[in-house]
Amino acid sequence: MKTKTQQASWFEYDHYGDADVLSMRTAELPPPAPGEISVEIIATGINHMEVFLRNGRETSWTDDPWPRRSGSDFAGIVTAVAADTVGIRPGAEVVGHVRAGAHATRMNVPVGAVTPKPRGVPWEVAGGLYLAGATALDTLDELQIGSGDTVVISAAAGGVGSIEAQIAKHRGARVIGTCGERNFDYLRQLGIRPVKYGDGIVDRIRRAAEGPVHAYIDNFGKDGREIADELGVAPTRYRSSADRRDVELRLLEDDEASVAHGTAQLTRLLDLAQRGAFRLLVSGMYPLDELVEAYEDLAKLHSRGKVVLATNPVSRYRTLRARDVHEAMNSGYGAG
Ligand SMILES: NC(=O)c1ccc[n+]([C@@H]2O[C@H](COP(=O)([O-])OP(=O)(O)OC[C@H]3O[C@@H](n4cnc5c(N)ncnc54)[C@H](OP(=O)(O)O)[C@@H]3O)[C@@H](O)[C@H]2O)c1
Repeated sequence: MKTKTQQASWFEYDHYGDADVLSMRTAELPPPAPGEISVEIIATGINHMEVFLRNGRETSWTDDPWPRRSGSDFAGIVTAVAADTVGIRPGAEVVGHVRAGAHATRMNVPVGAVTPKPRGVPWEVAGGLYLAGATALDTLDELQIGSGDTVVISAAAGGVGSIEAQIAKHRGARVIGTCGERNFDYLRQLGIRPVKYGDGIVDRIRRAAEGPVHAYIDNFGKDGREIADELGVAPTRYRSSADRRDVELRLLEDDEASVAHGTAQLTRLLDLAQRGAFRLLVSGMYPLDELVEAYEDLAKLHSRGKVVLATNPVSRYRTLRARDVHEAMNSGYGAG
């Protein structure tokens, strides 16, 4: 049977740099190789790790060839399958992950890198789930967070932190999340005890904990070790931002075992999302061709939940985001 050829557009870059080194290129998508499927991408997420890999701050991918592609999280629709591929058909709705290349309209991926998208999980949530969600799940698994634990999670309103905090709560832990004051209500709505970061944080955490603190997850990477020590957290139940880096890089490995692990974690996350164990808030939604603007948004470090890209947005209209209001207030606008 003759397969209809399809054009694909994707972001790639030829050298290290800021987001403006990314450019969109278009070519015919080759048919899927043995063991692969073709996917039309509907939504795809952005992550800080992609930024570090692109700007050269993260140096562990030096052997990867140039040009390099961008993006690891996606959700989409299967458009073609290789002749040897069983168990999946064109038209299937899937969620998946790749080492790089998800910032695209279409791509070919190994069939083992995708899992079915549950109907109840929206496209934009599914598309932004992989790296943040699997990092959260791996970290909670490693620390064996569960009932009876009091855990502190830094940057609890952000992409990784908000998933981590909600799943920890779902497992029965008492969860304290560090954030700025504007996120207090957001975290309270999720059943998380908010604590403002900055001077005096240890006393505020002690008051919120009303007892011993058993575990500390430092997403943000500032003073975490000192704070955890002062709180009496055992070293085995502390995870630093550097530990998180290691988890993320492992989740982006493309050997068969790593891909299978990532897909298994993604399947668990989708099940948890479907059952309402956590809600991933999408606070920034950009058309794919505005990838650079989306990264500029992420770089402000005040995202609530995730920033996600859509390949076929219904509208390019943007609502005012909470962080824009916050910044406007701080700069004097609306203060009167
Ligand atoms: N070490 C690594 O390799 C590595 C890897 C990935 C990410 N990270 C870092 O981890 C952080 C969170 O990651 P993410 O993916 O969840 O990013 P994100 O979605 O951009 O998270 C932003 C969150 O960070 C919070 N935040 C800002 N300043 C803070 C501070 N001083 N203390 C505690 N929280 C603060 C913000 O809360 P408010 O708006 O309430 O201030 C916001 O909700 C980012 O800063 C990122 O650069 C490090």
